[in-house]
Amino acid sequence: MSQIRLMRPYISFDEVEAEFREVFDSGIFTRGQHVEAFRAELAVYTGAKHAFLTTSATTSLWVCLKLLGVGPGDEVIVSDFSFPASANVVEDLGARPVFADVCPETFNMRPEVLEALIGPRTKAVMFVDALGNPTGITEIKRICSASGIPLIEDAACAIGSSEHGVRCGAIADLTCFSFHPRKLISTGEGGAITTNNDDWADWLQVKLAHGARGMKGVGLDFVDYGYNFRLSELQAVMGRKQLAKIGAIVSERNIVRNAYVERLRSMGFVAQRIGGSAEHNVQSMVFRVPEGVDRDALIAGLRGRVEATLGTYSLSAGSFFLSKYSCRQPISYCLESTTITLPLYEGLDVNLVASAIEDVLS
Ligand SMILES: Cc1ncc(COP(=O)(O)O)c(C=O)c1O
Repeated sequence: MSQIRLMRPYISFDEVEAEFREVFDSGIFTRGQHVEAFRAELAVYTGAKHAFLTTSATTSLWVCLKLLGVGPGDEVIVSDFSFPASANVVEDLGARPVFADVCPETFNMRPEVLEALIGPRTKAVMFVDALGNPTGITEIKRICSASGIPLIEDAACAIGSSEHGVRCGAIADLTCFSFHPRKLISTGEGGAITTNNDDWADWLQVKLAHGARGMKGVGLDFVDYGYNFRLSELQAVMGRKQLAKIGAIVSERNIVRNAYVERLRSMGFVAQRIGGSAEHNVQSMVFRVPEGVDRDALIAGLRGRVEATLGTYSLSAGSFFLSKYSCRQPISYCLESTTITLPLYEGLDVNLVASAIEDVLS
């Protein structure tokens, strides 16, 4: 029997074949109709005024920090339970990532922790929707607005999630998405930025197009220096196909999540908590393992039957940041070693996973 994989792609070659053929026949591989359409559809879906496509969430986060002028002497408060990219981009620009410990249930930044960390050097706050869970972002936004600090949402995992009926993409000042294969929409690699701010959208429009705005004679008018972090036409075709069915993808993932929670509760596994006003896309099915269970041994024991991995990382506990700043965050560090990600895809029989866990633990 083959191992149950963590995730299955939500896209098949059959779905894109006709459009791929058109792209190949036209010879237009970049800056074509699909890129423009995907960008517009993403704005409509998220409810954001502006959307921009990029090569990854990492480039999106980096560009947003550049936009805000983050540099040496600045601090950016970052949720500590995340993928290192969230803090790497801050470090790369010469600023200091200030790690905010998280709620042990939702795994997200806590308002009281944020309030205690805000200081004169705080240039921005980066809230991470841990594993796609947006719980608490609205309150974090309220604190940031009251303090006059821009909020970047690292929504790398959170396409399709919402809080108080507002989708990720339209909550924070700037939102960054990932289209990596472990995400609900995958273009292989890829990402996006959304914002409601017209001035920032204008900056992004120019900077993401090599610094060009309009034409100068028969050529482009390069009014600034800029970058190329573009998505291709073929990737945009893939993105559009998945965005068109994102509602169904989120529903299906929640059905499997509910079955998991029901099945594993009696075994002492505690699922990541979703706030009552939040809709979670369940990008990853993450549980805290029961007390006394060796998480690493469990993952090793499942190998061959069930693919499993850790929840995610405590950024402040990573070797680089720990040696540089020595400020390991206790809750996040505990979550890094006691959480497990289990497979989740449409139609998965969670009993197969549960039985494998029972076998390993017995
Ligand atoms: C929270 C978070 N931020 C950023 C990233 C980086 O995304 P990308 O691979 O698109 O650069 C990831 C990737 O998993 C992530 O989980």
